[in-house]
Amino acid sequence: MSGPNPIEAVFETLAATAPEIRAGLPGRRTALDQENVTGDQQLAADVWADELLAERLGTIDGIGEYASEERQSVEDVGNGYAIAIDPLDGSSNLKSNNPMGTVVGIYDGSFPTTGQDLVAAGFVLYGPITTMVVAREGIPEGYVVANGDRQSTGPVKLPTEPTVYGFGGREPNWNHSFAEYVEGVRSELKLRYGGAMIADVSQVLSYGGIFGYPGLRNRPEGKLRLLFEAAPIAYIVEHAGGASTDGSQSLLEVPAEAIHQRTPTFVGNESYISRLEAAVDW
Ligand code: AHG
Ligand code: MN
Ligand code: MN
Repeated sequence: MSGPNPIEAVFETLAATAPEIRAGLPGRRTALDQENVTGDQQLAADVWADELLAERLGTIDGIGEYASEERQSVEDVGNGYAIAIDPLDGSSNLKSNNPMGTVVGIYDGSFPTTGQDLVAAGFVLYGPITTMVVAREGIPEGYVVANGDRQSTGPVKLPTEPTVYGFGGREPNWNHSFAEYVEGVRSELKLRYGGAMIADVSQVLSYGGIFGYPGLRNRPEGKLRLLFEAAPIAYIVEHAGGASTDGSQSLLEVPAEAIHQRTPTFVGNESYISRLEAAVDW
């Protein structure tokens, strides 16, 4: 009899660890005078959440690699699937007490690899309540996490009628054709941008629309990391009936050369994604 399914075990562990992460945030709001690999200032909470999750997830039978936004290189933890995790997404929201999350991609491959190797992806959202979305084959499932247990709230399907949008980066750094595209979007949808990808994507999954962080004049690759943020979120949104792009192709197709590679990132209703790809000259 083989052990518990490692993919299921990852999401069970994330749910079980969520209350501990929430409880540990108040005392860890300090900024450390150190940066992570991609140059983000690290909070005590970033490092602590990463250590906690590395210990819990790295010991799961059937998990072979642990890669984290907060770590320089991939940890070899045995044989099996490769996990890419952003332990605390949107951690700059800790100071302002706004939502943040944990996002994970489970790849059947060895890093660096592409979103095509994803076999599952999910996120925990630390908002007024703790919720989770898990995507495997088929339609993603939503959960409320109470006392470390997941209570299903049913399938997560992107609403067919788009309502909200949110784009990162400062407008003077958007290229002209993207700024023009956004002028159209802003006349049709309501602005919902909160500085944590997971929270903003949860708005899109709940209300329909588009979220993105574009390539900028001063940073053509954008800000979000392919393996830890963009590909897992694209996997979830595409399984929920939406689409994703880096400006020209699904984020699941973007070739990965380095584990901390950044990519322009857009997810949401197919109509807005294809309009972006047609309108914007990157
Ligand atoms: P992280 O806290 O893991 O570094 O992620 C922050 C990311 C993402 O969550 C969010 O969409 C984006 O940074 C916000 O960037 P700006 O502060 O530039 O808007
Ligand atoms: Mn992040
Ligand atoms: Mn992070």
